[in-house]
Amino acid sequence: MPLSPAPSLFTPVSLGALDLPNRVVMASMTRGRATNQGLVPTALHVEYYRQRASAGLMISEAVWVSPQAIGFINVPGLFTAEQIAGWRAVTDAVHAAGGRIFAQLAHSGAVSHPDFFNGELPLAPSAVNPGLRSFTPGGFKDTVTPRAMDAHEIRATIDDYGFAARNAKIAGFDGVELHCATTYLLPEFLNSALNRRTDAYGGSAGKRTKIVFEILEAMIAEWGPGRVGIKIAPTFSMGGFAPTDETPLTYDYLVDGLNHFALSHLQIVRARGDLSGSPVAQLQDTIAYYRARYRGTMIANGAFDRDGANAAIGSKATDLVSFATPFIGNPDLVARMRDALPIAPSDPQTYYQGSAAGYIDYPLIELA
Ligand SMILES: Cc1cc2nc3c(=O)[nH]c(=O)nc-3n(C[C@H](O)[C@H](O)[C@H](O)COP(=O)(O)O)c2cc1C
Repeated sequence: MPLSPAPSLFTPVSLGALDLPNRVVMASMTRGRATNQGLVPTALHVEYYRQRASAGLMISEAVWVSPQAIGFINVPGLFTAEQIAGWRAVTDAVHAAGGRIFAQLAHSGAVSHPDFFNGELPLAPSAVNPGLRSFTPGGFKDTVTPRAMDAHEIRATIDDYGFAARNAKIAGFDGVELHCATTYLLPEFLNSALNRRTDAYGGSAGKRTKIVFEILEAMIAEWGPGRVGIKIAPTFSMGGFAPTDETPLTYDYLVDGLNHFALSHLQIVRARGDLSGSPVAQLQDTIAYYRARYRGTMIANGAFDRDGANAAIGSKATDLVSFATPFIGNPDLVARMRDALPIAPSDPQTYYQGSAAGYIDYPLIELA
């Protein structure tokens, strides 16, 4: 029997319940363009995602699951009828262009700020200031000491994810991804310095991960198998948010547990820089480490280029690769990667704010 060639970014693949024409995933990117009171996606969002629909799969920017989840200026939500209608226009345009899109569901936790809540404190696992900066309507401000969620608020938050997952379905998304990466609420629960709880949701790896599993159950209850994914960044560090000695064990427990869920994918952000001497030194080769533990479909993320992505897929180190920054300036990133064409730079000044400029005005390669 002839050997089949090694897979590449352009080998079709199935991801949960979906068949994808290529393995180029657009990773979630907050772009701060919902510049309206209701945090509703606009015509700009429709055009931005439509332009990028040649990706095998797009993951939307992080979207708030509830008003309490808000914590970054001009980020859209998925908890009102107007927001659902706004997203429906996006998903219709993506589907008309032949693409597929998941909604990334998020809660900002302690990275939020009282300015978003009429002076009330943001909710978090424990009353510990993460030592980060919050992008508020008044500009960047230092985070504060948040208020620890009580048992009722944890239950309500899990329900909010279920509600937003249901809304994503009504809005026409193809699935949902749980944002469990970087500094938001769920990585806070997983972090032993920020989660000092002594109840069922803190104190051990099993207890720190409990909320994540309960949220996934709520999301899968709405979507069924193969339509719910999760993104993690176990080695991520920023400001006062850093891995602890408990981090490797906590993520081992998490990823082992994910094997028991009918997920579409596990997306993992790999380590940047040298981790030696840090509590997560053993996670230096992040993708290989979790590939050995996770039995489902994996998306690798983090500063990949075309050749690195093809090598990782070709060696079966991962099934798919996601790209964030390269998609900003290259709406036709898939064609550029397929034909080994130049990748255009993008303007960081417009990453998180602005209007059409730096958002929907990057040209296709033919016009560049
Ligand atoms: C402008 C910008 C916004 C981002 N917003 C999100 C987000 O909302 N949710 C998320 O999970 N990651 C977010 N990220 C992280 C990316 O998804 C990705 O993990 C990271 O940029 C590494 O991939 P890259 O090297 O291909 O850019 C953002 C990154 C950028 C550059």
